[in-house]
Amino acid sequence: MRVFGVLFVMLSMTAVATAQAPAREPVGSLALVMRSILFPNSNILFDTQSRDPDAPPEPTAAGGTVSATFSSIYTGWGLVEAASVALAESAQLIMMEGRLCENGLPVPVGNADFQQFARDLVDTGTKAYEIAQRQDLDAMVEITNEVAGACENCHTVYRRYEDRCTQ
Ligand code: HEC
Repeated sequence: MRVFGVLFVMLSMTAVATAQAPAREPVGSLALVMRSILFPNSNILFDTQSRDPDAPPEPTAAGGTVSATFSSIYTGWGLVEAASVALAESAQLIMMEGRLCENGLPVPVGNADFQQFARDLVDTGTKAYEIAQRQDLDAMVEITNEVAGACENCHTVYRRYEDRCTQ
């Protein structure tokens, strides 16, 4: 009983804390944010260069993994919309205070050019989202160049092999 009581109190405390403020501490390195959110979602946009989102979804392999089993739930333009939103919103995560790069240096959120690169990502992601809602394939293929540019511009300065996350 006592254990349940303690557990209940802990749970209610968590609920109160959650209601007051969302978590503000970053969990992973910037590289992990890139690999988990920016990389897979930009690839979904780049896929539109070779595959029309209106095309029928690929059949799901029988007896596959959970990811494979559910891969046909969100497809087509809806998936492209979601990926665009992920890119636009990921700028908030990139700009979060207190995050480190993989080499232990702080993410340079105070640098004006870094801030501009993050804003450019919001802009291109937002444009891609609008295009995906209109289901305009030509415009989508066109905007993928801008998306690639938004990644590349920041990487040229801040993702050099030797001295990452410095100007
Ligand atoms: C505002 C700057 C900025 C933007 C915009 C940006 N990146 Fe990055 N990216 C970085 C930095 C800095 C690193 C190195 C992070 C580290 O070492 O922790 C990085 C690392 C990465 C990595 C990890 C590479 C590795 O070491 O495995 C991938 C993948 C990546 N970015 C993909 C993308 C994609 C795709 C986009 C565009 C959709 C993008 N990034 C946009 C700054 C940026």
